[in-house]
Amino acid sequence: MAHISTVVCTSHSPWLFAGPDDWISQGAERYADGKQKPKVPTDSPEVTAEKHARCMRAFEVLRKHVAAKRPDVLIIFGDDQTEQFDFKNLPAFNVFLGAQFEGWKISHYLGMPKHGKQREARPKTAENWTAIDGHPELAKALTVGLMDRGFDVSYSLEMNDPEEGMGHAIMRAATVLTPAYDIPVIPFLVNCCYGPAPRGKRCYELGRALREAIEAMPLDLSVAVVGSGGLWHMLRAPEPILDEAFDGAVLDGVRSGNARAIAAMLDGYAQPVDPADPGAVRYASNGSGMVLGIGHGSGEVRNWITAAAVADGKPGTVVDYVPIYASPIGVAFAYWDQV
Ligand SMILES: [Fe+2]
Repeated sequence: MAHISTVVCTSHSPWLFAGPDDWISQGAERYADGKQKPKVPTDSPEVTAEKHARCMRAFEVLRKHVAAKRPDVLIIFGDDQTEQFDFKNLPAFNVFLGAQFEGWKISHYLGMPKHGKQREARPKTAENWTAIDGHPELAKALTVGLMDRGFDVSYSLEMNDPEEGMGHAIMRAATVLTPAYDIPVIPFLVNCCYGPAPRGKRCYELGRALREAIEAMPLDLSVAVVGSGGLWHMLRAPEPILDEAFDGAVLDGVRSGNARAIAAMLDGYAQPVDPADPGAVRYASNGSGMVLGIGHGSGEVRNWITAAAVADGKPGTVVDYVPIYASPIGVAFAYWDQV
């Protein structure tokens, strides 16, 4: 029978794919025009270097953990940020069923995510772009199994936008965890960024159903489940903060094996939005005009909830939590040895 061999969660911020000098220079550049006034401290070059080294060590821990479990396939929960889907059609949940997909190993753009047209596109060469095998047999069985359990997931037999490639949340996690791209990956997209996004409770229930569906399959497969994204980062916020209490609550739920508590925390987090303020509504909904729950980067905690729910009841190990004030983002890395 198919079984879950491990659950891993990791941040995938572009800051994790840049050096400490970039953190300093890009942090300064990001706020140079004065449009955003961050309410966070500034790190010294020494602290910046140490924080960067901690993140790279955490990536290594997760990579070795996954390799030791020798999974046959990874299911990666990640959010799409207009890479495959946009407001023409924005699924809450989408499973990729194809035999192979392609995408940017790290990013469409060189360096850090500067604003709009300032960004320089990478050449689409083997250094930057790769193909990854999917797992149609498991992905199709999973889609049927979830539908049978009341989850009306959408699915893609082929990529919606092959030129743009699979989204960063899937590609970066695959790059970190399987740098040789030699383990098939099922991309499982969860709308995290655009209102209305699925409630944390629904993501929790999805993770539980996914485990049940996998364990009912007559397939001899070892499955690793990955949650990609987070933690707190509100993109382009006028006064960016780092909500370390929010992040702490997520990691408490990981350590205690209580994914339901993380979901309840997310669903209970009140965003102060004045419905009469179009700019505030636009920001809180990330452009859809419909506000429900936290979106933007912080909403990627849904990917952690869905993955953590697969291992619910078992304590997880938090490898590290690093507040990167230059962004600002709280990045975190965790795994479940017992699932
Ligand atoms: Fe992301």
